[in-house]
Amino acid sequence: MNAPVRPQRLAWTLTGSGHFFTECFDLMHEIPHLDLFVTRAAAEVVRMYRQKLEQLPNRVRVIKDTTASAAPIGQFYHGLYHTAVIAPATSNTVAKCVYGISDTLATNVFAQAGKCRIPTIVFACDTAPEMDTMAPSGMVKVYPRRIDLENVDRLRTFEATTVVETLDELKQALRARLACVNASSS
Ligand SMILES: Cc1cc2nc3c(=O)[nH]c(=O)nc-3n(C[C@H](O)[C@H](O)[C@H](O)COP(=O)(O)O)c2cc1C
Repeated sequence: MNAPVRPQRLAWTLTGSGHFFTECFDLMHEIPHLDLFVTRAAAEVVRMYRQKLEQLPNRVRVIKDTTASAAPIGQFYHGLYHTAVIAPATSNTVAKCVYGISDTLATNVFAQAGKCRIPTIVFACDTAPEMDTMAPSGMVKVYPRRIDLENVDRLRTFEATTVVETLDELKQALRARLACVNASSS
């Protein structure tokens, strides 16, 4: 008898960014077969925006950053994931990704997805010299530095990586990717 086929999953990583944080959180409710990787900073920021990981549907597997070796990432090498999403992505995570550093759950998702040739979508936070962003206490102005903007541009040059700048672009990239996955599995 053949073993049951495991459906492939989407690996979504939440970093410690408040930029469109609650909107990304809401979007996750719509994704089937989802594993959520949470950086240590993200686990704190979730609470600051008065959200709870427990609010997510039971079918979402939540994976927190508790190991130095990013042990849960091993599943990337066993074909479990069809897509990686990092949304929202802090300037910290983007900078590390661009320089090939992988020392957190988020940067390991990016690096190992890349090494396994798994398409990755990154919703970068710092994309313009002046932006409005939601702090826990309300809207604030933020002025990303030249290095932050340059790093986002460098990220666009990576293999199999789609960088999106708005929530609409994120939704569109997700829809396109899920349609592609569905078409190839049917
Ligand atoms: C309430 C709150 C909101 C934050 N929002 C952002 C943000 O929008 N963009 C950003 O780059 N960092 C933001 N940070 C800072 C990051 O959480 C911090 O740089 C952290 O080290 C990122 O770690 P990570 O990239 O591993 O998640 C925020 C921090 C707090 C407390």
